[in-house]
Amino acid sequence: MQYPVSGGRGGRLSASSGATATAVVQLSMVGVRHRGSAASGLGVTVILLIGACAGPPAPDQRAFEEQPAAGIAFTASGDIGSTPEAGATLAQVPVLGAEFHIALGDLSYGDPGEEPAWCEFVTGQVGAGFPFQLIAGNHESDGLDGHIDTFAECLPERLPGMVGEYARQYYVDVPADAPLARLVMISPGITFDDGPWSYADGSERSAWTRRAIEGARTSGIPWVIVGMHKPCLSVGNYECDPGPEIADLLVAAGADLVISGHEHLYQRTAQLGHGPRCESIAPDEITVDCIVDDGDRLEQGAGTVFATVGTGGTALRDVHFDDREAGYFVAWSGANAEPSWGNLRVGLSRSSLDVDFVPAVGAFTDEFGIAAVDTSSEPVDR
Ligand SMILES: [Fe+2]
Repeated sequence: MQYPVSGGRGGRLSASSGATATAVVQLSMVGVRHRGSAASGLGVTVILLIGACAGPPAPDQRAFEEQPAAGIAFTASGDIGSTPEAGATLAQVPVLGAEFHIALGDLSYGDPGEEPAWCEFVTGQVGAGFPFQLIAGNHESDGLDGHIDTFAECLPERLPGMVGEYARQYYVDVPADAPLARLVMISPGITFDDGPWSYADGSERSAWTRRAIEGARTSGIPWVIVGMHKPCLSVGNYECDPGPEIADLLVAAGADLVISGHEHLYQRTAQLGHGPRCESIAPDEITVDCIVDDGDRLEQGAGTVFATVGTGGTALRDVHFDDREAGYFVAWSGANAEPSWGNLRVGLSRSSLDVDFVPAVGAFTDEFGIAAVDTSSEPVDR
């Protein structure tokens, strides 16, 4: 397999083709669900950059207009491959001012033995030495399309202070010297060489996850973001493979944002939270009382937002508008709904979590923010 060194911007926006490149832009508004800023200056800026150059962006183009005040930004996406769309999405990472990237699993879709070549494809876009953080997807967790351990050798942990097992189950606080967020990366529903990993109630991994989240709170770290390859809630093809118990644990423990891949589309839930009439967000039926806030300006502490960003480059799939879980979602994009590849950009500051889906190919955008609760007068329990 040949791995292109530079991404083909302006690639064909076809769900069935990630390889052929034309300038056709397919914008289907049918079924597009989006309550964010559909034509934000953010998206327009990036699209213009993409359209204006054929190679990697020049250094003077890399300044991003909306840097968070006194904060940092990172990007995330999964389900990548080596398509022109993958090249464009990877090339977008430095353009967005990311200090690191979280690859949400399903990396190369290539053959075993090709891991180093794919790593070079990645570093050719994001730069050698750039922190390109991995969590395993089902395509490489047990060696099907290359092995996660081999990917982890050529795209190693580069954020200081990691706790746990890189690419499988770990957490790291960013930035290390004055943390704004704890990133908790877990693998529910993923099969490694030692079998499927369970995060059911009572499991060791469930307890580890709860300790990681609650430990961030007691340390005074403002934000907790959980990454896991497979989502529980989805309007795509899959069921709740991670198991409903871990999804409920993330809500109960107070994760602010959960990011996933696996479904080859973008989808974002309302802020979901437990309460007297919502004991579980378990899928297959909508419990309206679990929906705390279906807007774009949210407040921390009320619940958890689940976003799936399986838009890293592989062929997109359809959104199922009539899915039983559709009522939990406030934004989506897929092969049949404004198809777009790109990254989630997460801006972190003490006062807010600012999240954008930014297209690298396509025109769909999504934007939401979570305002921090004011803890300035509260003692920090260390
Ligand atoms: Fe995938």
